[in-house]
Amino acid sequence: MNAATFPMIKAEGITKTFVLHNQGGQRIPVFSGINLTVNAGECVVLNGPSGTGKSTLMRALYGNYLVGGGAILVRHGDDWIDMSRALPQEILSVRKHTMGYVSQFLRAIPRVPALDIVAEPLVALGEDEIKARTRAGELLSRLRVPENLWSLAPATFSGGEQQRVNIARGFVVDFPILLLDEPTASLDAKNRETVTDMIREATARGAAIVGIFHDEDVRDRIGARLYDIKLQEQAA
Ligand SMILES: Nc1ncnc2c1ncn2[C@@H]1O[C@H](COP(=O)(O)OP(=O)(O)OP(=O)(O)O)[C@@H](O)[C@H]1O
Ligand SMILES: [Mg+2]
Repeated sequence: MNAATFPMIKAEGITKTFVLHNQGGQRIPVFSGINLTVNAGECVVLNGPSGTGKSTLMRALYGNYLVGGGAILVRHGDDWIDMSRALPQEILSVRKHTMGYVSQFLRAIPRVPALDIVAEPLVALGEDEIKARTRAGELLSRLRVPENLWSLAPATFSGGEQQRVNIARGFVVDFPILLLDEPTASLDAKNRETVTDMIREATARGAAIVGIFHDEDVRDRIGARLYDIKLQEQAA
């Protein structure tokens, strides 16, 4: 099968307006009637200035936000799940098996060692704990997180160290779909290059990736397709 024509995400006519109920019901329209298709083996970069709704679109794809109208279809095994209407247990199943999400900041989980935070998604899929920790260690090594930190909870880690723990966790399972919200934002050049390599390897194995990267260099190295929310709105 030609991977380039095998859609993994089909978002059709989606609209998002935030309503601030605790501030007089003020409405903040973010985007309206946009379409986005992402195929297996490709990386799409959400593009546009600060505040255009890139993170909001990504969270909508992950089922974090309700959207007004449209559908967010995600290929989950042999099924299509509409993340905008799915039941909570369907969303959890998609997140467990199909779609990984690397947020910009790690939600520090008190007292859980970094190695376990990274291994957890594999353990949740039934992988043997020792094997899962070994895999987690390989990723942390690759991302240059010093081994003496692995047994510590990441709350005291530097911003870049926390981000690398977060990235390792997102890549520990070979998810068919990956959502990456500025994963390279606080990394040095060497680690940025490593993450770029990991993204390229993921698309090469057929993953569909939606990313937000401001770094020109990273986009070029990944060979990403740019997706501009505002241009999409005008076309819709
Ligand atoms: N939870 C929320 N409640 C209300 N408004 C929100 C919420 N999240 C985002 N917004 C608003 O939606 C708009 C888009 O925000 P979003 O975070 O998606 O932008 P972005 O394109 O990711 O920007 P940046 O490049 O700065 O990260 C902004 O005007 C923001 O104020
Ligand atoms: Mg953002």
